[in-house]
Amino acid sequence: MNGLPDLRVKLGKLELKNPVLVASGTFGYGEEYAELIDLNKLGGIMTKAVTLRPKEGNPPPRLVEVPCGLLNAIGLENPGLEVFIREKLSFLRKFDTKIIVNIAGEKEDDYLQIAKRLSKENGVDALEVNISCPNVKEGGLSFGTDPKVIYLLVKRLKEVCGLPLILKLTPNVTDIKEVAKAAEEGGADILSLVNTVLAMAVDVDTQRPKLGNIVGGLSGPAIRPIAVRMVWEVSGAVNIPIIGMGGIMKAEDALEFVIAGASAVAVGTANFVDPRTPLKVIEGIGRYLKDKGIDSFASLVGSLKVQR
Ligand SMILES: Cc1cc2nc3c(=O)[nH]c(=O)nc-3n(C[C@H](O)[C@H](O)[C@H](O)COP(=O)(O)O)c2cc1C
Repeated sequence: MNGLPDLRVKLGKLELKNPVLVASGTFGYGEEYAELIDLNKLGGIMTKAVTLRPKEGNPPPRLVEVPCGLLNAIGLENPGLEVFIREKLSFLRKFDTKIIVNIAGEKEDDYLQIAKRLSKENGVDALEVNISCPNVKEGGLSFGTDPKVIYLLVKRLKEVCGLPLILKLTPNVTDIKEVAKAAEEGGADILSLVNTVLAMAVDVDTQRPKLGNIVGGLSGPAIRPIAVRMVWEVSGAVNIPIIGMGGIMKAEDALEFVIAGASAVAVGTANFVDPRTPLKVIEGIGRYLKDKGIDSFASLVGSLKVQR
């Protein structure tokens, strides 16, 4: 040991070596990043979304930089479940870190089929159920915003799949506590939040939308205060662990989420700026605990000094 505090965390049945994951869609399936950083040091990898069949995604342009953030409308481009298992999962399995597969679908049965299939595979530690992609027109949005639909989806997923289920929530709702509670009642083991915030940008020269899909999802530092607020609200409403994300660029940003109630965090857009960000966040959290004389990371979770 190098004298840094023990950063291991338990999210129910899912145990992580440290509380810092990489967020879905910002780290591919790890292949490109493996050449840049040591993946074994990460708390976990949340893969890019996997759908039953291959998906081409949305027309370009799919990414636009905006002040303090990134606008994307990728549209869940991926090679489909079978290619994922054969080529991507076999690669990810080699690393000593938790592999969390982000799954998406157009209807309930898609999710059930993917979950059933993945629960038979070695090397999958948990599923992150993406019910909240703002860039998919067929079904994606109502899945993420209707508490009844969420409750039933989670309940049925639990019946077919023994893996820990992480429900990824969208911020594009009036009351995120309602959807969080529905996911918990359905049997979700963990919640992750937030996905991107619905947004759009216009090119005033051409008078066209800057994204091929017209609207997309905003990520990066611009959304962090929204995400921190939502983690705080949800942590007061449910009893299952939360993975917080949205605009984490450095350790202090991650600590905001933890103090507000997140048991772990995920680094997303920052990976595009500096692939070493997750490692720097891990080191920074360790240093903070040491400097403050806090010996357990768990005692920092939800330690915000206010009256509920
Ligand atoms: C380019 C891009 C692709 C993304 N793809 C996915 C995805 O496939 N599934 C998913 O659940 N979230 C996806 N997200 C959302 C992120 O996982 C994360 O929830 C969001 O970007 C907020 O975190 P950040 O501000 O740190 O990026 C994507 C985000 C970006 C920027």
